[in-house]
Amino acid sequence: MQSTLMKRLNERYAHHAPALPQNDSFMNPVVETLLSHRSIRAFTDQALPPGTVELLTAAAQSAPSSCNLQMWSVVAVTDAQKKAFINQNVLKQPHVEKAPLMLVFLADMAMLKRIAADKNAPIEGLDYLDIFLMAAIDACLATQNAAIAAESMGLGTVYGGSIRNHPETVIDALRLPAYVFPIVSLSVGYPDQDRLPQIKPRLAQNAVLHRETYSHEHLPQAAEDYDAAMREFYTGYRTEDQTWTRLSLARVRSPESLSGRDRLREALLKQHILLK
Ligand SMILES: Cc1cc2nc3c(=O)[nH]c(=O)nc-3n(C[C@H](O)[C@H](O)[C@H](O)COP(=O)(O)O)c2cc1C
Repeated sequence: MQSTLMKRLNERYAHHAPALPQNDSFMNPVVETLLSHRSIRAFTDQALPPGTVELLTAAAQSAPSSCNLQMWSVVAVTDAQKKAFINQNVLKQPHVEKAPLMLVFLADMAMLKRIAADKNAPIEGLDYLDIFLMAAIDACLATQNAAIAAESMGLGTVYGGSIRNHPETVIDALRLPAYVFPIVSLSVGYPDQDRLPQIKPRLAQNAVLHRETYSHEHLPQAAEDYDAAMREFYTGYRTEDQTWTRLSLARVRSPESLSGRDRLREALLKQHILLK
């Protein structure tokens, strides 16, 4: 009989799962949660239990942090009007308004700037690219920890990278000061069980797992197999060709195809994030 682990791996890799030796410690509730992940874009009206925001924030803060600088913060948005405003002007995705909670994760260098001002300390290093990269990495790790915690509690989540389509609007709406920038949002709510998506397959491991040295040896075949898997995944509910190759190439075709994010550097500079 197929083990739960092999079942999950087969779902994730659409029949191109890696062969794993039998090992009872491989399958545990954490791995089960990770391998069962799917983004949820259909939520019920059910309210979140009290304490959810605090618990998700604790999970987020439990993520590792570059140099322990903790250069991220999060705005919890539950106000329906504010969610609607941000959605209608920035994200433009119906599920954002339906989810009872939107967490907006921020790269936040303003906290250190403030501490430095209180101590009259120089902060010339704050203007360099790596500081922003650290803050953005920390913000993403925090987001993913919150997402995993939510999923382990039976909640559904979906990221909103589209929050960066119009960062200035988000900055105004959430009153973000200089040195703070929205990285990603996370919508959280109870999944509509009647509209649960299938687990979305990924590229075969031999496309992304290099051994000792980097190689594209398996990439062309992996992409072809993955396109076939994605075509099957979307059969029945999407008409146009949803292959990974087509969608990915469409995304990187031109500055215009970046959904407004070709202006990101300009928006960062306006927030005094200089990226030297
Ligand atoms: C940084 C980031 C930004 C994302 N932005 C969006 C988004 O704006 N809207 C959306 O519907 N999904 C968004 N997603 C979800 C991806 O589309 C999704 O993770 C991917 O298609 C794989 O599907 P799965 O999460 O169901 O496995 C984002 C995911 C990440 C990691």
